[in-house]
Amino acid sequence: MKVDFFKRKTINLDIGIRCTLLCPKCNRQRFSSSGKKVPGHDTTIKEFDTITDFFKIVSFCGQVSDPIFNPNFIEFLKMGYNKNVKCNVHTSASHKSKEWYIKAFKSNPNATWIFGIDGLPHTSHLHRINQDGEKLFKIMLLANKLVKSVTWQYIVFKYNEDDMNNARELAKKNNLKLEFMASSRFRENDPLMPKKQENYLVRSELWNDFYVTKKNRT
Ligand SMILES: C[S@@+](CC[C@H](N)C(=O)[O-])C[C@H]1O[C@@H](n2cnc3c(N)ncnc32)[C@H](O)[C@@H]1O
Ligand code: SF4
Repeated sequence: MKVDFFKRKTINLDIGIRCTLLCPKCNRQRFSSSGKKVPGHDTTIKEFDTITDFFKIVSFCGQVSDPIFNPNFIEFLKMGYNKNVKCNVHTSASHKSKEWYIKAFKSNPNATWIFGIDGLPHTSHLHRINQDGEKLFKIMLLANKLVKSVTWQYIVFKYNEDDMNNARELAKKNNLKLEFMASSRFRENDPLMPKKQENYLVRSELWNDFYVTKKNRT
């Protein structure tokens, strides 16, 4: 089905420029490796009000930031709730207090949260550099009690591909949705590249990205 760009009701936003993690394939690293500042600014409340007057689904994901670092983020979640705008949060940074997370979850019980924890929690920092995976896992369990939908997103790497069954067990035990994601961002001889071909995407499969991601869903 052809969708008119100007009539789209869904938007994916970078609401800031900050992140405390250093995931090697993130677009952020392209800027820092060339000595450039990450472009953009913190979305303001006025801007978000305008955005939510038009769009019905907002994804706080983007390409160069983690949404938790916008100082207005909890207010945005509240606004989404009050204006009946669906909010999808993609986050991997773990540098907020437990109290902050509880406030964020309670501000919009209808939100969907997707946590990027790549591997068993004690190993995820091998890709998500600086992440406290064990802390974020506990936060994700709290979210699972306070918001409508929570997904544990697990990108498959060499260091975690043999832990997938253990992750399935852990997810089952905690009543969590687990989504394995096959990455397409590996270069030749990449030290993080999985050993098994089914766990990453080769160039000819790129068009099929969504299908492979879905296929890996647990
Ligand atoms: C720039 S991040 C922004 C959202 C949030 N900071 C996060 O990482 O979840 C955008 C997306 O890139 C994904 N991503 C990061 N590293 C990746 C990799 N090596 N391969 C595939 N996707 C990756 C993240 O999981 C996230 O869904
Ligand atoms: S957590 Fe997200 S924004 Fe931060 S470095 Fe990793 S991929 Fe980039």
